[in-house]
Amino acid sequence: MDKVQIKDKSFRKHILFDAIHEKVLKVAGRINEDYKKKNPVFVVVLNGAFMFASDLLKKVNVDCEIAFVKVASYEGTKSTGSVKSLIGLNHNINNREVVIIEDIVDTGETIVALLDQLNRQSPSQIKIATLLFKPKAYTKDAPIDYVAMEVGNEFLVGYGLDYDGFGRNLEDIYIVD
Ligand code: IMP
Ligand code: MG
Repeated sequence: MDKVQIKDKSFRKHILFDAIHEKVLKVAGRINEDYKKKNPVFVVVLNGAFMFASDLLKKVNVDCEIAFVKVASYEGTKSTGSVKSLIGLNHNINNREVVIIEDIVDTGETIVALLDQLNRQSPSQIKIATLLFKPKAYTKDAPIDYVAMEVGNEFLVGYGLDYDGFGRNLEDIYIVD
């Protein structure tokens, strides 16, 4: 399946699962080193990060907790600029070391809104781990601590990322044609 059609758009295969997995393992290795003897809380951002989080956290070997939040900012292939919190954090992160797990950081609106929201609980530290980072689209100053892969500004689907709700189940990452 080198091409997929989702609604009005056609996509072609761009990053194979094996290449993704290699990068995910590298991030896991860095986290294992940085959080040795610590007890971080991983906050997974639904929906997009579910596949990355699953593969990443299976390779994380520090004692940790895992929590979930759900936000939405995208409609179709455009960021709307306003970030809606659909499911809030049901977990005490006061004085805890937090690692946010995201699928993709694009303009940075989502991650900054999330940082503001989580910082209200006064965690001792927040770091960000993302599968994909679009450095040319990023407009914020917050450092993105763990990046599995940097990509261009083209719209991507697969491995958790969707186009209008579809395509998340694809094992590889596809790029819009
Ligand atoms: P930001 O707020 O502009 O950084 O956008 C981040 C969110 O937009 C991510 O959590 C994704 O859900 C979504 N997003 C950004 N770029 C893409 C893409 O290329 N494909 C699918 N979703 C994307
Ligand atoms: Mg998303």
